[in-house]
Amino acid sequence: MKMIEVENYQQMSEKAAEYIIDKVTNVPSMKLGLATGGTPVGTYKHLIEDYQKNGTSYRNVTTFNLDEYIGLSGENKNSYRYYMNDMFFNHIDINKGKTHIPQGDVSDIQKECLRYEELIAENGGIDLQILGIGGNGHIGFNEPGTSFHSKTHIVDLAPSTIEANARFFNQLEEVPTKAITMGISTIMKSKEILLLVSGESKKEALDKLINGPVDESFPASILKNHPRVTIIADKAAVAN
Ligand code: F6R
Repeated sequence: MKMIEVENYQQMSEKAAEYIIDKVTNVPSMKLGLATGGTPVGTYKHLIEDYQKNGTSYRNVTTFNLDEYIGLSGENKNSYRYYMNDMFFNHIDINKGKTHIPQGDVSDIQKECLRYEELIAENGGIDLQILGIGGNGHIGFNEPGTSFHSKTHIVDLAPSTIEANARFFNQLEEVPTKAITMGISTIMKSKEILLLVSGESKKEALDKLINGPVDESFPASILKNHPRVTIIADKAAVAN
């Protein structure tokens, strides 16, 4: 794993955006894996600014998001589809038909998991996957104990994840308790991974990732076995 340490969230976001812009410029039809949550918000902001200033085009880019809550439609403000449209897709020239997010409001969720996994494979896999990390080491919504062999699947969210995500909802009770997520093996098939880590609350997780063993009790630890992982972390997240 290659580690880039930066001063703060702002710099992490700028660096991550530069990284993505470089890839999209070199391979305009790339398959880009995306994340939601608080961490990549600044990165999307920089990508939009760059699009407006420099015209980097996403017309031929295909995207795959890591996860989606079960039970929320894309129109629900707390769905990850809504988040992605609002934070990124609505502001660039991407073809929305090429932006893929698991659908959380279909009747057959199991079938949706299979469809999503196959869709990624049919597209030749993900070239660059952007990841955040949970305080408990989750990647996507793969909570501690998830098999490293898992494919896109249904998860029961850990109480700590529900609590962490409650900040986006009016009240804790509104946070869905289940989600669809790419599995750990799905993520590991990405040709390249960019992990973004910011803030004191991620310090322990980052330390465990770097210094701890590869073990299913800490999902992100599998990234050590991937040949092309870059971590961009700010000072607050790096143990000194
Ligand atoms: C989001 C995702 C999650 C987040 C993680 C960190 O699509 O899959 O794994 O990356 O929960 O969330 P934040 O960035 O809000 O700290």
